[in-house]
Amino acid sequence: MINKASPVKPVAGQGGATRQPAWNPTTWRSLPIQQVPDYQDPAALAAVEARLSSYPPLVFAGEARKLKAELASVAAGEGFLLQGGDCAESFAEHHADNIRDFFRVFLQMAVVLTYAAAQPVVKVGRIAGQFAKPRSSPNEKQGDVELPAYRGDIVNDIAFTPEGRYPDPQRMEMAYRQSAATLNLLRAFAQGGYANLDYVHQWMLGFVKDSPQSHRYQTIADRITESLAFMRACGVSSDSVAQLRSTDLYTSHEALLLGYEQALTRVDSTSGDWYATSGHMLWVGDRTRQPDHAHVEFCRGVKNPLGLKCGPSLEPDGLIRLIDLLNPDNEPGRLTLIARFGADKVLEHLPRLIRAVEREGRTVVWSCDPMHGNTVSMNGYKTRPFDRILREVEGFFAVHRAEGTHAGGVHIEMTGKNVTECTGGARAITAEDLQDRYHSHCDPRLNAEQAIELAFLIAENLKKEREDRRRHAPAVAVG
Ligand code: TRP
Ligand code: MN
Repeated sequence: MINKASPVKPVAGQGGATRQPAWNPTTWRSLPIQQVPDYQDPAALAAVEARLSSYPPLVFAGEARKLKAELASVAAGEGFLLQGGDCAESFAEHHADNIRDFFRVFLQMAVVLTYAAAQPVVKVGRIAGQFAKPRSSPNEKQGDVELPAYRGDIVNDIAFTPEGRYPDPQRMEMAYRQSAATLNLLRAFAQGGYANLDYVHQWMLGFVKDSPQSHRYQTIADRITESLAFMRACGVSSDSVAQLRSTDLYTSHEALLLGYEQALTRVDSTSGDWYATSGHMLWVGDRTRQPDHAHVEFCRGVKNPLGLKCGPSLEPDGLIRLIDLLNPDNEPGRLTLIARFGADKVLEHLPRLIRAVEREGRTVVWSCDPMHGNTVSMNGYKTRPFDRILREVEGFFAVHRAEGTHAGGVHIEMTGKNVTECTGGARAITAEDLQDRYHSHCDPRLNAEQAIELAFLIAENLKKEREDRRRHAPAVAVG
């Protein structure tokens, strides 16, 4: 189905190491594709896509370019990428306090990391567009009843009824509008004063207040407040310096539902390039990264920063082939490799991929997703033991230290709510506790306390990297 609303002009491949065939936002449609909903009414689907393609973009190409430049610094070892949010956003949980609580915890994590690394932290939410989910099976069976699997609120409903599981194209429009409203509030928080470093103490959420994590956080917050007081005395304050009173929060999601993505892909008038305007950064999932299939085809043509999930089945050669397709010009900041191997596999799989990338001279950001390789089933719940999550992150940093490469970021599923979805952590959530507050529509997320605890673990590793670097840096003569 060609999307008539956006003029489609084939553009020549960008050259680079290997010449690429022509691309336009529809070229993915002629290729094999995984994980597509079984829409029953093609005319209704086409009508929604046509409407979406006439709506305003959610993000501006200039912002995506700015994010790419910041990720280029991370790739060069001068920064850290913090990416996180819900596994899947839902229509039912679209409330201001959910967005605010996520934002608060994210800021706390960012502050802890910025302080430890003494480097900028690039903040990217899995938010304002993270609605579509890949599934291991197209159907779900409960007893004798078999229905289409839940594929995220942008496709169908979690309710296990024939009506609920019917893939309704109209939901794409709802996802678009929810994304717009969410992004609007995030922009307001980020730029409007909420993220002011003067409020570093106030971001602490009530239910986290008397936890061990909160005491550690308070110590850092005290030091920051003291530094700010000193700077104020020197004439530098949040009144005079915008960087102290605001931050940039970028958005990201998996580029899974390509009809939706195509409808929001536009030519940027400043550069003449195609950009996905559904979010700043898009990633290709571990299940949809076949080099000759539709998802890689779509993503290679948009100029946004891209992520690529790298699971245990990805071989070094396969990775290089994907890098050739997704970043043929070796542009720094374009590609973030998101390793998701599992605590037991990271030490075996990650070094091979790092070595291949180094050997081929490719510039990437290495990020660690410690969630998806550590999912287990307990008492009928999908959960993730927190100690395994920490162990994968530790392993990721250890491998990078051994290889002499930069551990550039993390990618996590988290919420600002006090949920009980991952076991362990300072409150030692048990398998029995999971039933108390298990709210995720999809995968188990870290709660606020666990997210902050993880930030402290990452902070310690970043400090180690910083010390290593200082030890190896040539001495500088002063005076
Ligand atoms: N603007 C800087 C940054 O975003 C400093 C900053 C302001 C900040 N508010 C923040 C850092 C909140 C972390 C969290 O990095
Ligand atoms: Mn997930």
